[in-house]
Amino acid sequence: MKFFLDTADINQIEDLMPTGLIDGVTTNPSLIAKNGNDMAKTIKAICDIVPGPVSAEVTATDYEKMLEEGIYLASIAKNVAVKVPLTIDGLKTCKALRSQGTLVNVTLCFSSAQALLAAKAGASFISPFVGRLDDIGEKGMDLIDDIVTIYQNYGFDTEVLVASVRSKQHLIDSALIGAHVATLPPKVIYELYEHPLTDKGLKAFLDDWEKTGQSILPK
Ligand code: E4P
Repeated sequence: MKFFLDTADINQIEDLMPTGLIDGVTTNPSLIAKNGNDMAKTIKAICDIVPGPVSAEVTATDYEKMLEEGIYLASIAKNVAVKVPLTIDGLKTCKALRSQGTLVNVTLCFSSAQALLAAKAGASFISPFVGRLDDIGEKGMDLIDDIVTIYQNYGFDTEVLVASVRSKQHLIDSALIGAHVATLPPKVIYELYEHPLTDKGLKAFLDDWEKTGQSILPK
């Protein structure tokens, strides 16, 4: 399973890259706004650090402008995945960009019907938003299950990229279903390391070790 980092914050990306866990990055206009820096420069800086796909989202809503923005974003670096919204114009843009060999991430997916359309438009990634579905009382994870089944039924190459992840449980459920990718906020990545028995066990080992008076490295 691939882990993408859901942030536009260079410092957070630099902190987490040495873990070897990060296979790509996703950004969106809200994350770019939160970061406060120039979008093109931010995407270039991320692509210089991360060799895997880096999603950069268009902000136009009509096909012609979206395509123009997508071509520009793709010119920033070879590993840019242009992110387009799941609209008619977004999927037309997806089709056009894919025919030029550009990676495309179709975002704001909230139904399996939408995911089927994105796969037929040749999307490299589909981003269903589990957290936002949970927020309105639906089960976001049921959508992941349905999309994975539908894509397997027809052998679509589109990768299921679980987005709007809020918890460790979202990640585990996605992995059990067999989703290809999860994009994780840094906070969730740090939570994955945590277990109270690890802390308790480590403390006991260190307490016992201290009693020996030894040191592993020669003094
Ligand atoms: C990433 O591709 C999405 O834009 C992001 O996961 C959305 O997350 P949110 O619902 O927490 O804003």
